[in-house]
Amino acid sequence: MLNLTFLGHACFLLDDGKHKVIIDPFISGNPMAKVTVDDVKADFILLTHGHGDHFGDTIELAKKNNATVISNFELATFCTSKGVKNTAGLHIGGGADFPFGSLKLTIAHHGSTLGGDLAYGGNPVGFIIRMDGKVIYHAGDTGLFMDMKLIGEMDKIDMALLPVGGYFTMDINDAAKAVEFLKPRKVIPMHYDTFDPIKTDPVKFCEKVKQQGVECIILEPGHSYGLE
Ligand code: NI
Ligand code: MN
Repeated sequence: MLNLTFLGHACFLLDDGKHKVIIDPFISGNPMAKVTVDDVKADFILLTHGHGDHFGDTIELAKKNNATVISNFELATFCTSKGVKNTAGLHIGGGADFPFGSLKLTIAHHGSTLGGDLAYGGNPVGFIIRMDGKVIYHAGDTGLFMDMKLIGEMDKIDMALLPVGGYFTMDINDAAKAVEFLKPRKVIPMHYDTFDPIKTDPVKFCEKVKQQGVECIILEPGHSYGLE
């Protein structure tokens, strides 16, 4: 069984019992987080883009756990420059095998800058992750895009992790359309309620998704879901 723990905002920890993979580790400074950086153990850190609410505690977490940071080339290179020993800088459309499984980088329509001086963070991405025989799609921050149809055609997605908060990303209506395109078995909404502009009602999203016959799981920060 693949265990998915929602750490708040867009941060998920995937654990198959052997490997721990964390996505977008925004923990300190995340008003929704129920854990501290010291509580978190990870072997791999996946980064969708450079914005602070995703890059978060990457450097500290990578050094503390001797974890490998996997991202686009620009963010991986930035992490190397900050003293992270193990990085993998891939890019959109590319993928690789890792001890936990494999992944592929997808497009995401968004920005990707680092810090207050808006340093270039490469293109934002999403991830198709294969782990424990399951296919997980973490969309990153993105607006709705037509190629989600292609993503859904090429991979049978077991779990889609989709932003639904609007303002910076898809809202619940666009995210429900994304589910139509992606045709996942299950979906978990993310990237809502953390800040005032992205307050929304995930139950409304789930109602729309259920009409499509897709299972929708609302995870409270700190809670886990066992994906069979
Ligand atoms: Ni962002
Ligand atoms: Mn964001």
